[in-house]
Amino acid sequence: MRIVGPHCCGNCRYDSPVPPAQSIHRIGLLTGGGDCPGINAVIRAVTKTAIFQHNLRVFGIEDGFQGLLENRLRELAASDVSGILTLGGTILGATNKCDPSRVFAGNDAGGAPTFVNKINLCLQTIRNHELDALIVVGGDGTMNCAAPFVQAGVRCIGVPKTIDNDIVGTDITFGFTTAYTTATLSLDRLHSTAASHHRVMVCEVMGRNAGWLALHAGVSSGADVILIPEIPYDINSVCRFVESRRARPTGFSIVVVAEGAKPIGGAPLVTKVDPTNADPIKLGGIGEHLAAQIGELTGLETRITVLGHVLRGGPPVAADRILATRFGHHAMQLLMSGAHGRMVVMHQGELDSINLLHVANKQRLVPRDHPLIATARAVRTNFGD
Ligand code: F6P
Repeated sequence: MRIVGPHCCGNCRYDSPVPPAQSIHRIGLLTGGGDCPGINAVIRAVTKTAIFQHNLRVFGIEDGFQGLLENRLRELAASDVSGILTLGGTILGATNKCDPSRVFAGNDAGGAPTFVNKINLCLQTIRNHELDALIVVGGDGTMNCAAPFVQAGVRCIGVPKTIDNDIVGTDITFGFTTAYTTATLSLDRLHSTAASHHRVMVCEVMGRNAGWLALHAGVSSGADVILIPEIPYDINSVCRFVESRRARPTGFSIVVVAEGAKPIGGAPLVTKVDPTNADPIKLGGIGEHLAAQIGELTGLETRITVLGHVLRGGPPVAADRILATRFGHHAMQLLMSGAHGRMVVMHQGELDSINLLHVANKQRLVPRDHPLIATARAVRTNFGD
């Protein structure tokens, strides 16, 4: 059934039956997965909108779904969220280890991990606290964890969060702009020392299997080479390009590599696999590998910098504060207009929402014909292909 009203805005349309908004009195709020700049801005926007506009009570769930499992909730007053707009991290805590439908329960006799489904325990916590709805802030993994709750009839609204910018259905996630700004500022510093020493500086950035962070940081810092997972690279092509720059007076090169980048016919490098974890595969190591290869094949002096979690920390930039605040407010508007199982999105500059179940465990990759790639190529940036 397609509902024609009520709507939270001119854009959102949803197919679920409209539950009476006046039956919502108490909401739970959790932040799942890895943290990112701007989560606190969402917590603030949701809590203040809920209290001031709708006279609701808000319960913060600690450490994402882990807190729901362990009955760790605390009521948030407006004063609890005052002054947190600019703070990095999340005042509620987060974990990317817990999926309530698949909780690690020890190894079996053969040493293989076993899992139990604890959704019912979480549903009991929701009932015990008389929560009428959940606002779930997270990435594709968190939306996947939220899916059984949506299916069990818990009113859920998702808010897309990740520095990776890889959530399907939304053109941008909050935290991404801050992360690539942080990377850009670091790359600017690498630029000057690279020029002084005529070196090749390889800089590895996060992003999982998507190249959004590397692409944006690379273009905004004027990197010479940008390697992203979506365009597998040829090491000889990278080396030829870097060598061609050796003849210039400064002779340096800046290579930005996404942690998920891979050579043609190869696979991304993995630093850790933990099958008991809801997010079992940790990528990393490609920067070091690449720097060693470039050094060996060209004879140029090469250095490696891995930015890692520095991209996740710190205060959100102004654009992310605004985006996170708009997302949080929109989540509340959606909820109070009767939506259920929707995730807030930004599409072509407009707030909208999509079915949360369509987001779970999917990733939005950089299209090879993305205009920013064409722009970068035009200014002679090399993509290793
Ligand atoms: O998804 C965000 C992210 O920072 C990725 O870019 C990175 O691969 C991963 O999380 C790191 O996870 P962890 O904090 O568990 O090391």
